[in-house]
Amino acid sequence: MDTSGCVLTSLFVAAVLGPVLAVIAPEIVGETMLGIDLGTTFSVAAVCHRGHVEVVPVFGQNTVPSVVFMNSTTTLIGSSAAALRTHFPKNTIFDAKRLIGRNYSTDELIQEEQESLPFKVFDSGNGSVLLGVPGIAEGVTPQRVGTLVLSQLKAAAEAAQPWRQFFGFRYKSVTISVPVAFDNAQRSATVKAGEAAGFRMVRILEEPIAAAISFGLHHGTRERTVLVFDMGGGTLDVALLRLELRTRTFLIMGSSGDPHLGGEDFDRALAAHFTETHDAVHSAIGAGGDVMKARLVKAVEMAKQRLATTPDHTFSLPVGKEGTDKLQLSLDRGTLKEVCSSLLERAMNPVYDVLMEALMEPDDVDDVVMVGGSSRLVAVREMLGEFFGDKVLNYETDPDLAIAVGSAMSFGC
Ligand SMILES: *[C@@H]1O[C@H](CO)[C@@H](O)[C@H](O)[C@H]1NC(C)=O
Ligand SMILES: *[C@@H]1O[C@H](CO)[C@@H](O)[C@H](O)[C@H]1NC(C)=O
Ligand SMILES: *[C@@H]1O[C@H](CO)[C@@H](O)[C@H](O)[C@H]1NC(C)=O
Repeated sequence: MDTSGCVLTSLFVAAVLGPVLAVIAPEIVGETMLGIDLGTTFSVAAVCHRGHVEVVPVFGQNTVPSVVFMNSTTTLIGSSAAALRTHFPKNTIFDAKRLIGRNYSTDELIQEEQESLPFKVFDSGNGSVLLGVPGIAEGVTPQRVGTLVLSQLKAAAEAAQPWRQFFGFRYKSVTISVPVAFDNAQRSATVKAGEAAGFRMVRILEEPIAAAISFGLHHGTRERTVLVFDMGGGTLDVALLRLELRTRTFLIMGSSGDPHLGGEDFDRALAAHFTETHDAVHSAIGAGGDVMKARLVKAVEMAKQRLATTPDHTFSLPVGKEGTDKLQLSLDRGTLKEVCSSLLERAMNPVYDVLMEALMEPDDVDDVVMVGGSSRLVAVREMLGEFFGDKVLNYETDPDLAIAVGSAMSFGC
């Protein structure tokens, strides 16, 4: 590790955690090379290895669903848990990040979140949130779900270094990214989730700062204003950052978002479009119910992803009881843009909010960082390009991995 990295490191710590941690011994910092994006729908771990960052594969995948399956005898984490979601919806916990560290008795948004979740959410008696899971008498805390997901990533990161693991190597510290909007209770619950997963030191870094770091924007040679647009599967977060050269820190000038807007909304809108405009799809849905609806959403989601690299895409939708008959459907970029136009417009509102709050014009933004899986959509890129100008857009890093990569880099990789 080079020494400039160490300097940068302590300054980032100062920005994020306040002056208390600003004087950190380089050897401790040097050890913090694991970064985790503990996401609402999926999580990612990245490791800084000999000066460059590698994403940790978990069962061959770069991303792990933030999902836990629990019954009285079995606990499963990640993709094996997610696979049981349709069969055991009440035992399969997802979206726990929406609830972690929240206070049931004072947080009005809990009610709203609760309606969109299949499992029971209740008050433990003092305001801390419990999830009701059949077979688990004491209930499950959202923090526990975080712990399980973090343990899987920790184990995978350690297993990816077999030579060191042979000598009993364990990751002791980690940088976990959190949304800017997380309050102290949510941050503290995230830290506790990490400690329970076996980390001795858990550092917290704001997600948009991690995103900006992953694009190397902290190396800039002049002060700059960065807008981070993070659109995932179910949430949109927008933040405005300022890189201060003197201190080499990112300051958060404002943030906004839409907690229920993301890729899944595009999928639902596209599924509704095909149901309304294709008689054959309409009757298949009428006959096939929920299973058929799920198939259609899956098919349009895959078609949507294909449109990131091709202007139009033809795909087949399995219909009938066994799914052996196929309907040929096609989707092009123009149709996607039209069908999703109101969702796209909605996605701009947080962008207007942060600019207005900071009394800034689009021209004042030097860089736009696009992360989150939905940033792959050409329609989203075009929309931001029209508003800010194409040349300021940054989207080369894999948008699903950027926050984990930036978290691993943040302490001087
Ligand atoms: C718990 O889930 C596992 C995996 O689906 C299953 O094999 C087991 O029978 C379940 N246990 C109970 C008590 O339902
Ligand atoms: C609330 O109760 C739970 C157990 O029901 C306990 O673990 C937790 O520490 C309590 N929190 C506070 C703030 O009292
Ligand atoms: C939730 O808020 C209430 C009222 O402010 C407070 O008494 C309680 O301790 C809080 N619970 C937790 C778990 O923080």
